[in-house]
Amino acid sequence: METVQIQAEKRSYPVMIGEGLRYQLADVLKETTAGKSRFLLVVDEAVDALYREETESQLARLLPVSTYVMPGGEQSKSVEELSRLWEFAAESEMDRKSVFVALGGGVAGDLTGFAAAGYMRGVDYIQLPTTLLAQDSSVGGKTGINLHAGKNLAGAFHPPLAVIYDTGTLHTLPDAEWRSGFAEMIKHAYLDGEAFLQDLKARVQSVEDMKSPEVASWIKRSIEVKARIVEEDEREQGVRAFLNLGHTLGHALEKEMGYGRITHGEGVAAGLWFALAVSNNEGAGHWDLEKEKAWLESLGYPVDAPGRLSADTIVESMKRDKKASHGEIHYVLLEKPGKPMTAKVEENTIRQLLDRYYK
Ligand SMILES: NC(=O)c1ccc[n+]([C@@H]2O[C@H](COP(=O)([O-])OP(=O)(O)OC[C@H]3O[C@@H](n4cnc5c(N)ncnc54)[C@H](O)[C@@H]3O)[C@@H](O)[C@H]2O)c1
Repeated sequence: METVQIQAEKRSYPVMIGEGLRYQLADVLKETTAGKSRFLLVVDEAVDALYREETESQLARLLPVSTYVMPGGEQSKSVEELSRLWEFAAESEMDRKSVFVALGGGVAGDLTGFAAAGYMRGVDYIQLPTTLLAQDSSVGGKTGINLHAGKNLAGAFHPPLAVIYDTGTLHTLPDAEWRSGFAEMIKHAYLDGEAFLQDLKARVQSVEDMKSPEVASWIKRSIEVKARIVEEDEREQGVRAFLNLGHTLGHALEKEMGYGRITHGEGVAAGLWFALAVSNNEGAGHWDLEKEKAWLESLGYPVDAPGRLSADTIVESMKRDKKASHGEIHYVLLEKPGKPMTAKVEENTIRQLLDRYYK
């Protein structure tokens, strides 16, 4: 088992990573949950059939458990689902000493974390991630739901008590989810430096390669990169913005192509490549764009996806992104691996680059 200790403003918490940790939950959580009253286990529907039973029986060795099954998918990050979950918590007699537990991917984690942040003015929660993308979503304390007006528009900073990451649960993940989660890992490698990036490039040339026994160590490394940035700037006043690398275009693609037509990670991978192109154009980088593209495409990422939309549609979407400021596009650029910076980029420049690379 590997552990990364995260220092948040409110508390320090461990992220434990290892194959088969779900069978040791009672031991691993014994101290953390001493003095607590009950568990509210929130399970993603797909994960319910796969991992609920063993998780419930481990938790029940510590405290009484009530289980809430939420429908899978992004639509569960809604006010309606949050309301159902809160009502269920109250009916199940959850009190201030109860602990919410999220078993699933980023959706279960974000919803459960936000529900915990607001229930009785705040109860503790634990994350049991089951997707590769959760190496990103379970670290950093951001929780939240979507509003009709946009993604993650209601939320709270609420760090968990602990994150227990059983990499054994990843074996049942569909390829599309491996690819989506791995894009955030690639992003962390670009932000970290040459060594991590070269390691991934050397070892991973297909989705099958992502499922390597090495994945636990890559997850650990990836979490360390995110933790380092988040610890420096938990509330996103400065360097945390670097985590947005690839997301300016990624979000626009997700939104304009339609959620579900391109996964979050596919959008981020296409956005990463474009961020390198923008970096070269702004004199901030010297990337061999063909080489970077070849690697991303070998992993199945749709680097050319922006060509399916007009440059105007993309630029307008970027200007409306909640991370744009006063309609200006602020880009995370990369001089070289491990050397990110943010810069305002003129919308005409973006338009010209989109036309140059995708038309
Ligand atoms: N809080 C943060 O800092 C943060 C960061 C990044 C992303 N996010 C959020 O994370 C969400 C995406 O997370 P995700 O990609 O994990 O999506 P997800 O939770 O929807 O899971 C993806 C799919 O995989 C299924 N699944 C989960 N685990 C499985 C398993 N072990 N075997 C088989 N199927 C499984 C789920 O049912 C779902 O259909 C988004 O809502 C995003 O906004 C949050």
